[in-house]
Amino acid sequence: MKLFIDTANVEDIRKANDMGVICGVTTNPSLIAKEGRDFKEVIKEIAEIVDGPISGEVKATTVDAEGMIKEGREIAAIHPNMVVKIPMTVEGLKAVKVLSKEGIKTNVTLIFSANQALLAARAGATYVSPFLGRLDDISSPGINLIEDIVQIFDNYGLETEIIAASIRNPIHVTDCALAGASIATIPYSVIEQMTKHPLTDQGIEKFKKDYLAVFGE
Ligand code: E4P
Repeated sequence: MKLFIDTANVEDIRKANDMGVICGVTTNPSLIAKEGRDFKEVIKEIAEIVDGPISGEVKATTVDAEGMIKEGREIAAIHPNMVVKIPMTVEGLKAVKVLSKEGIKTNVTLIFSANQALLAARAGATYVSPFLGRLDDISSPGINLIEDIVQIFDNYGLETEIIAASIRNPIHVTDCALAGASIATIPYSVIEQMTKHPLTDQGIEKFKKDYLAVFGE
């Protein structure tokens, strides 16, 4: 499973990229708003840091296919690595069909059912983003959705890649890898949590203590 970072914060992106663990970035309107910076400016900075797919979403206020297609072309023109993120609606699917025929990569977001993922794949989406954590939040196991989509895409050899999104903790990451998701997009805080284990910290302390006891500083 490949790992992307889910943020528009360039410092966090730089830190994760320096670790060598991420190969892509996803943003969304909330994450861009959180940074309070110009969309294009942030995206250009991200593209200078990470050499891989960068998802930039159409404006939350753009709901018609025509508007999404126009914005999608503009987003794609920012950098060759851009992926246009489009919400899972009828208008969104129409936009995906047109953009994918033009060779523009798309990521259909806000996927909460296997049928939505199937429709997005058939419309030509490069990626689908099922939201694990938000399903867990309403007491519906999000991992079941990831497993269903993996199975359906496998059954029919669909090439659309599954980006497990709305990841909230390290267990989500392990579960998605076991389920066969192509990619997990993860907030920096969770990437950091994934590096930790109390036995690793204890081991480092013990090695240090034993070394110092014999050889000193
Ligand atoms: C996906 O691409 C979204 O940016 C993201 O994963 C949403 O996560 P949240 O449910 O934690 O906001």
